[in-house]
Amino acid sequence: MIPMLDLRKEFLDIEDEVAASVIEVLKSTRYILGPHVEAFEAQLAKYHGLGFGAGVGSGTGALFLSLASLPISAGDEVITTPFTFFATAESILYVGAKPVFVDIDPVTLNMDIDLIEEKITEKTKAILPVHLFGLPCDMKRIMALAKKYNLHVVEDCAQSFGSSIDGKLTGTFGSAGCFSFYPSKNLGCYGDGGAVVTDDRQMYENILALRNHGSRGNYIHDVVGFNSRLDEIQAAILLIKLKKVEHYNAIRRENAAIYTSLLSGAVVCPHIPDGYTSNYHQYTIRSAHRDKIKDALAASDISSVVYYPLPIHLQKPLEQFGFKRGNFPVAEAASKEVLSLPVYPGLPKEEIERIAEIIKRCL
Ligand SMILES: Cc1ncc(COP(=O)(O)O)c(C=O)c1O
Repeated sequence: MIPMLDLRKEFLDIEDEVAASVIEVLKSTRYILGPHVEAFEAQLAKYHGLGFGAGVGSGTGALFLSLASLPISAGDEVITTPFTFFATAESILYVGAKPVFVDIDPVTLNMDIDLIEEKITEKTKAILPVHLFGLPCDMKRIMALAKKYNLHVVEDCAQSFGSSIDGKLTGTFGSAGCFSFYPSKNLGCYGDGGAVVTDDRQMYENILALRNHGSRGNYIHDVVGFNSRLDEIQAAILLIKLKKVEHYNAIRRENAAIYTSLLSGAVVCPHIPDGYTSNYHQYTIRSAHRDKIKDALAASDISSVVYYPLPIHLQKPLEQFGFKRGNFPVAEAASKEVLSLPVYPGLPKEEIERIAEIIKRCL
C-alpha cells in the first residue's frame, strides 16, 4: 500500500528532539502564544527576509486575518482563482467581501494574469493569488497590476513554503504571505497552525490584535477580533521542522524529476517556468484518462487524489453569486483531468518507477 503521504519517517527522524521540546512546553504551563511562538515568528520572518511574522491558528486564519487587517470588509471585492482549496474563497467571504474569480492558465493551473485587469472595478481592494501545488504565480505581473490600480496583494502560500521566483520566496512579493502548517503541508505541525509574514508594521500589529479577540492581551478591546492563535506545542514542533524543510523540499524535487522523466509524453507533467522553483507540495499530472489512471493505481493499492474535483464558483455556498458551469472553462476542464500522485520525501524511488510504469501500462 502506498499512501498519498507518510509522515512517520519524518517524525522518527526528529522524535527525540520533538519529545524533549514538547515536554518542556508542557512543564512550562504556558500553552497558547508565548516564547516558542515568538521564537518561531522571528525565525519565519528571518527565513523570508521580512520584518514580521505572526503565528495564527490555521492557514485559513492567516488569510482572513490578513484581509481583515487591511481592512477588507463588506462591499469590497477580492480577485482570486476558482481552482484552489475552498479556504481561499472562504476567507474572503468571512470578512464579508465578494470573491471575484479569474480563470486559470491551462499550463500552470494558477491564475491567468491576462484576465485580471478586466475584473478590476472601483470595489476591488486586493488580489489573492494562490501558488497552487507549490508553483509560484507570476508575481512580477501581479505586482505590476497591483501598483497600477493601487491594490493590496495577499499571497496564499499554504502550499508553497520555500517555493521561489529567481530566488525570491513566495510570501515576500505582496503585502502579506499566508501559510498553513496543517500536518500534510511541506512545513506542517502536529495539529492546526498558520502564520502571516509581512514587512508592513501596521498590518502586523492589526493581525496581533485581531488573532486575539481584538486585544493585545490587556482586556482592552479596540475592535471585534477572532480567536486564531498559534499554540506553544505547535510552535515548538515548527521550530524543529523549519530546520529540515529545505532538505525535504529538495527530495520532493528529486522525486518530481523522476516522475517527469518517466511520464512525459504519456500524460501532461507539471511545467515549471524558467527561474521558478516549486516545492512540489503536490505532483499533479493531467490526462483525459484521469479516472482510468486513478483506478489502475487503486487496483495496485496506490493512493492518488483529485485536487480539486469541483472549482470554487460551482460550490454550494457560492450559489448566491449566480455563477454557472461554463463561467471558468479552463478551471472546469482541469478539475476533470488533474490527478495528484504521492511525492512525499520518504517515498522510495523504486515506488515512483513502479507508479509511472502502472500509469503508462494502463494508457
Ligand atoms: C491553498 C490553500 N489555502 C488555504 C488553506 C487553508 O489552510 P488550513 O487548513 O491550515 O486552514 C489550504 C490548506 O488546507 C490550502 O491548500
